[in-house]
Amino acid sequence: MPSIPREFVTKIKHEIDIVNVVEEYVSLKKSGKNYMGLCPFHQEKTPSFSVNPEEQFYHCFGCGAGGDVINFVMEIDSLSFQESLTLLAERAGLELPGGDPVDQAELKLREAVFAANQLAARFYNYLLLKEDCAAEARSYLEERGYSSKDISNFQLGYAPDSWRSLLKFLSRRGFSEEVLLKAGLIGRASGGNTYDKFRNRIIFPIYNVRGEVLGFGARAISPDDQPKYLNSPETKIFSKKTILYGINWARSPIRKSGEAIVVEGYTDVLTGHKYGIENLVASLGTSLTREQARLLNRFAERVYIAYDADTAGNMATLRGLEILHQTGLRVSVIDLPEESDPDDIIISQGAETFLGYKDRARELVEYRLDVILEGYELKSPEDRLEAAREGINFLAELEDNLARETYARVLAEKTSLSAEKLQEEIEKQRSIKITNNNKRESKKRRRPLTSASADESVDWQLLAAIIHNQKYRNQVLASLKPGYFRGETRQLAELIWQDPEITSTEILAEISGTKKQIVSRELLNSGRQITRTRLAELTRTIKNRRVRTEINNLIEVLSEKENGEKFTINDILLYYKRLITEERRSSDE
Ligand code: UTP
Ligand code: MN
Repeated sequence: MPSIPREFVTKIKHEIDIVNVVEEYVSLKKSGKNYMGLCPFHQEKTPSFSVNPEEQFYHCFGCGAGGDVINFVMEIDSLSFQESLTLLAERAGLELPGGDPVDQAELKLREAVFAANQLAARFYNYLLLKEDCAAEARSYLEERGYSSKDISNFQLGYAPDSWRSLLKFLSRRGFSEEVLLKAGLIGRASGGNTYDKFRNRIIFPIYNVRGEVLGFGARAISPDDQPKYLNSPETKIFSKKTILYGINWARSPIRKSGEAIVVEGYTDVLTGHKYGIENLVASLGTSLTREQARLLNRFAERVYIAYDADTAGNMATLRGLEILHQTGLRVSVIDLPEESDPDDIIISQGAETFLGYKDRARELVEYRLDVILEGYELKSPEDRLEAAREGINFLAELEDNLARETYARVLAEKTSLSAEKLQEEIEKQRSIKITNNNKRESKKRRRPLTSASADESVDWQLLAAIIHNQKYRNQVLASLKPGYFRGETRQLAELIWQDPEITSTEILAEISGTKKQIVSRELLNSGRQITRTRLAELTRTIKNRRVRTEINNLIEVLSEKENGEKFTINDILLYYKRLITEERRSSDE
C-alpha cells in the first residue's frame, strides 16, 4: 500500500471537497453545519447520512458507514485504496506521483487490461450475435431459452474454435501480447507461440459493481469438452475471491429489497433475471470468502443461499456460510430438490415456485442442526443420544446466549430429550470450549488473558483522538502500549505503534466493516474535541485498568495453583509488587 506517498494522500484530500464527491451519488441538503441525505449504503426513507464539510468526513447514523472521501469512494465503488486514489487524483487533475516509474507502468498495465477485457467482451458478443461460426453456440443458447435480447443484455459471447482470432483482433487494435497475457486472454506455449485461451466456448463476461469487465467465464458447448466452465486466471483485476457474478445488475435490486440470493452458477443468475428475480449473485462454485461477504453486506441485510442440494447439504459449505453471519448478515438456506439448481427450477416450474422454496428457507443455525440430525434415525435411545451429543457440540459454539437456548429447545423436541438437560449440557460444553480456547490463547501469548467483556468506549475515544491528532499521538505513544487496548481497538493500536506516522485514511483503509464504522463515528463524534485533560484522563484509565487486570489475573493464577506449576510463589510475589508500584506511580501522575 505505501507506494503512494503520504503527502500525496494529504494533497488529494486537500484538493477535493468530500461534499462534491458524495453529491454525485446522493442528493444532499444543507442542515446546520452538515449536509444530510439518504444513505447510499443502506435502505432508508428518512435521511440519516451526514457529511461534515469542515472535517471532511461522512457518517451514517443509520447503518454506521463512515470515513473520509477516500473511504467513500472505496465503499461506494468497491475499489481498493490505490484505485480510489487514482480515481480521485484524476478528478482533481493531479498526476499520480511519477517518482516511481514501476508504479506508473503498473497503473497503465491495469488500465490496458481493463480495456482489453472490454474490447474482448464486445468481440465475443459480436461473433455470437452475427457470425456464422457461432451458429452452434446460438442454437445451444436458444435451446436453453436465451433470446438475442438476452445475449445483448448480458453481453454473452462466443469464442470461436480458432487459436488466434482474439489475438489477431486485439493486436490490430494496438494491444501488445504482454497485455493480453496479463489479462489472461491468451496463453503462451512452451515453444513460445501465443494462442487464444478460450476456444469454442460460450462467454460470460464477469463485471465489477461498476459494470467493468474483470474477466470471463467460458462454457463448453459439447459435454465432451472439459472442463465445463473455464474461467479467467487470476489477473491484476480478476480475483476470484472478491467477485460475485451479477453484482452489477443485482446491486440496486438488493439494496431496494435488503435481500440477496446467492446461487452457484452463471445461468442461475441469468435465468433469475429473465424471470424477474433480480437480486441474484453467483459465488461461482467456490465457497464464499470474507471479501465477498463484505461486498454483499454493503447492499444486503439478509442473504438467502440457493445452492444445489448436495452443495447445501455439505457441512463444510454450511460452516463456510458463517462468514456471512460474521459480517452481520442474516443468513437463510433455501432447500432445493435433489439434483436441481435455481436455473432448472425457474425454467421448468416458474419463478413463483422458486420463490415458494425461498419462503420456506430455514435460518442457517436451524438448517445446520437439521443436517446433523438427518444423519440419525432418532428411534433407538442410543441413536437419539448420539444425535443429541453432536447437536450439543454444534450449539455450544453459538455466541448468542438466546440462540443457544432457543435451539436447545429445538434439539430437545427432535430428540425427545429434556430441554433443560440439553441446555445444561450445552453450557457445560461451552465453558469447556472457552477454557480450552483461553488456554490455547494464553499459551500463545505467555500471559494471562484479559477479560473481554468490559466497556471499550474509553479505548475507542483515546484511539480516535490519536488517530486524528499527531501531538496527542506522540504523547500517548510514549506512555501506553498497544497491548493495553481492549477488543478490536488493539489491532488498530498496533498499526499506530508500528508506524507512528500512519494517516487516518490509511488506518481506515486497513479496517473493515463494522470496525470502520465505529472508528469513523468516534472520529466524528469525539476525536476532534478531546481536550488535553480528557486525554490524560483516558490514558490514565487505560493504564490503571491494565494493571488491575494483571492483578486479577494473578489472583486467578494463584487460586489455580495446582496446575500453575509454571510459576513459583516467589515469581508471583515479585510480579505482584512490581504491578502495585506501577499502579501507584500511574495514579500519582
Ligand atoms: P454447475 O456444474 O452447477 O454448472 O457449476 P451450472 O451453473 O448449473 O451450469 P449449466 O447450467 O450446466 O450451464 C456451478 C458453477 O461452478 C463453476 C461455474 O461458475 C458454474 O456456474 N464451475 C463449474 C466452474 O468454474 N468450472 C467447472 O468446470 C464447473
Ligand atoms: Mn445449471
